Amino acid sequence: MEPEVQQKNKTDLVFQPQLARIERILPQISGHRLFQLKLINEEAAEQFSHLCGQFIELTVIGVGEAPISISSPPSRPGTIEICVRKAGVVTSALFKLHPGDQVAIRGPFGNGFPLDELKGKDVMLIAGGLGLAPLRSLLLSILDDRASFKDLVLMYGSRNPNDILFKYELLGMMNRTDIKYFFSVDSDDEGIWKQYVGVVTGLFERIEVNPETTFCALCGPPIMYRFVIQELKKKKIPMDQIFVSLERMMKCGVGKCGHCTIGKYYCCTDGPVFRYSDILDIKEAV
Ligand SMILES: Cc1cc2nc3c(=O)[nH]c(=O)nc-3n(C[C@H](O)[C@H](O)[C@H](O)COP(=O)(O)OP(=O)(O)OC[C@H]3O[C@@H](n4cnc5c(N)ncnc54)[C@H](O)[C@@H]3O)c2cc1C
Ligand code: FES
Repeated sequence: MEPEVQQKNKTDLVFQPQLARIERILPQISGHRLFQLKLINEEAAEQFSHLCGQFIELTVIGVGEAPISISSPPSRPGTIEICVRKAGVVTSALFKLHPGDQVAIRGPFGNGFPLDELKGKDVMLIAGGLGLAPLRSLLLSILDDRASFKDLVLMYGSRNPNDILFKYELLGMMNRTDIKYFFSVDSDDEGIWKQYVGVVTGLFERIEVNPETTFCALCGPPIMYRFVIQELKKKKIPMDQIFVSLERMMKCGVGKCGHCTIGKYYCCTDGPVFRYSDILDIKEAV
């Protein structure tokens, strides 16, 4: 296809919602579901490509639009997976839909994680709660091209043992020797958890890192960032080797409405992934 036509089609995908069919809905933890979507228009489906960490604007027809991260990796094109928490108007309406029903999507939006820069490096992924949704895209991308990266560590904190997202997928990877997992739960009232009980930052005592070669990607609840970054500082990881995915209220997704500002940046176009050294001085950033 001619480059101008490709560019026009990409622009169409950003501004004009495209119909997508819900192929499957996979239950996750309480109040969360994984939706597998396929664009209906073949040309739009062919044009759609994304980077790990990017998001779409999801429309439930007749209800409204919400930004949602793409959880599937670019290395597995064709199906767009999103992991959604039932939060308000749009997500509640989405939870009433069934396989075969249609939604609409615009995007992908934002910058994503710099996968090429991570190649040849040790990579540490640190997720809290639903923050695993965008990081899963990065995790699976690295696993799909494992030889291009050095050591891989996943640290994942959940509220309790029943709140672990992608539990069976993670369990299925447990026998791999090319990834180290560290899980934490904030509390374990049922006494069933065999690993660490406490906040995710408690896991840092258990890991050794080479600060020169380690790059980190973080996504989680707002409270998590400041404490995790303190731990990364103690490990002497340079601030320009830390990437944070941030969330802000969004409307347009294309840098026009001003809803998502973080200092001089728009979260929707300059982010949602930021190199921490670029936002160090913005007090409200994390
Ligand atoms: C870049 C990005 C990626 C996201 N990825 C996901 C994802 O993968 N899965 C997922 O379930 N959700 C994700 N979200 C959050 C999701 O967009 C919001 O929860 C959204 O409000 C849901 O729409 P709704 O109409 O169901 O809820 P609404 O009716 O809009 O609101 C629900 C409640 O959440 C508040 N709220 C809305 N947006 C935000 C926000 N960004 N931060 C804090 N509070 C907010 C509202 O004020 C309201 O109290 C993402 C948000 C952003 C900006
Ligand atoms: S969502 Fe409109 S400027 Fe970012």
